[in-house]
Amino acid sequence: PVLVVDFGAQYSQLIARRVREAKVYSEVVPHSMPVEQMLAKDPAAIILSGGPASVYADGAPGIDASLFEAGVPIMGICYGFQVMAQALGGEVARTGLSEFGGTPVEVCSAGVLLAGTPEKQDAWMSHGDSVHRAPEGFEVLATTAGAPVAAFEDRERRLFGVQWHPEVKHSAHGQAVLERFLYDGAGLAPDWTPGNVIAEQVAAIRAQVGDARVICALSGGVDSAVAAALVQKAVGDQLTCVHVDHGLMREGEVEQIERDFVAATGVNLVVRDEKKRFLDALAGVSDPETKRKIIGREFIRVFEDAQRDIIAEAGEHGEEVRFLVQGTLYPDVVESGGGEGAANIKSHHNVGGLPEDLKFELVEPLRTLFKDEVRAVGRELGVPEEIVSRQPFPGPGLGIRIIGEVTAERLDILRKADAIAREELTKAGLDGEIWQCPVVLLADVRSVGVQGDGRTYGHPVVLRPVSSEDAMTADWTRLPYEVLATISTRITNEVREINRVVLDVTSKPPATIEWE
Ligand code: XMP
Repeated sequence: PVLVVDFGAQYSQLIARRVREAKVYSEVVPHSMPVEQMLAKDPAAIILSGGPASVYADGAPGIDASLFEAGVPIMGICYGFQVMAQALGGEVARTGLSEFGGTPVEVCSAGVLLAGTPEKQDAWMSHGDSVHRAPEGFEVLATTAGAPVAAFEDRERRLFGVQWHPEVKHSAHGQAVLERFLYDGAGLAPDWTPGNVIAEQVAAIRAQVGDARVICALSGGVDSAVAAALVQKAVGDQLTCVHVDHGLMREGEVEQIERDFVAATGVNLVVRDEKKRFLDALAGVSDPETKRKIIGREFIRVFEDAQRDIIAEAGEHGEEVRFLVQGTLYPDVVESGGGEGAANIKSHHNVGGLPEDLKFELVEPLRTLFKDEVRAVGRELGVPEEIVSRQPFPGPGLGIRIIGEVTAERLDILRKADAIAREELTKAGLDGEIWQCPVVLLADVRSVGVQGDGRTYGHPVVLRPVSSEDAMTADWTRLPYEVLATISTRITNEVREINRVVLDVTSKPPATIEWE
């Protein structure tokens, strides 16, 4: 892999993604990892990321200089560029001159790194210190007003660096610079493709699972579907998928799993119809956290029942059920290294959450992938587009989009309104622009309306379109008025109980994306 050494910037995952966009596999490692351990991963190249520190700060993270002697091609970015300059005997100065944001860069010699990019280019900067003298053996490639050495390279030792952030889209030729490093500087080939990912994962799953049986909870979301499809491709009938139909799904979703997904992938699927059980458990409950806990608890109970049935049946044939598939993604893997002390805003319930008393080994074929890569793999595997391109949908489903008690009737109302909103957003070509658009039923609120000749006293629904990178923060999406008008007209015409459609224009923070 290409290792991205994380110096604590929010940019290291982004760098890894950009490298992968160049079709080269990359992984993020912490800067605290000993150099021998990094080298033990047999890196094809290494990128030192930016970081919030000054190389002069007390306890500033550094890197053992032996890394630069290992013969591995290395590129330093921003803080990583300064760390590299300092470690190799260059000079980093605290000028007090900071550069933030779009900054004009003057290329004095394109070298390998800047070959094919213009002599004057705009690049995204964020630095206080700057490199004043390049280490011996390095050629200076570019300068800016605040950074006399803004890029350098030592072609012989295959060491490269830029002061700016090539990974952010505001750097006009950023991706080109990364590609020059990967392809020309490090001599790597762009061969990391969905097809190769599948081949690799299939081999890994077969090696892990042998001829044991595997089970998987299929929620209907992208991750569990693609994970299941991969495991199915690897071990076929050894896999049994369980879908818990809790009655809180959106219109058409259960059918998409039961019919389309099974047809496309050939997985063994067991559907447990537990609608009544969930409705009974939720009767009379309006408090959001209580709802979430009930849904999570019931889900685990049902899934455990299903597991027991599968284990019992396999046992009759002398087979062992030892593995559980989880759709864990790469950002979860990276983040579980840190993230301590984060406040518990909502108790997220992840479908497939591991029951504590059942000891399974996990199969996590998506552990190395970002969401968009999971989608690409899913498409390559033939998973239906409706599932592959599905927006994030919370585990507790529509149960937390009905403000008030959850009843069968209210679920039907919300399902209809939600289906209309989704259909119109898709029709208007807006799916790519929004992260998701929850539709929320204010079931305990009524307002007066007039329809036909009569007075109505119906419920409002809220449209909550948001744009986001990762759901940690979000802004409300400025949807075109015509689209909003169409959605509003259709919902109030077609869903009798709803006489008002309102728009949520709050960002996150202060609001969350979901209403509960
Ligand atoms: P909030 O409402 O916290 O949502 O801003 C952030 C993202 O997480 C989704 N979400 C969930 N996903 N289980 C999930 O798998 C949950 O319990 C859950 N609650 C919220 C939400 O849809 C948004 O994408």
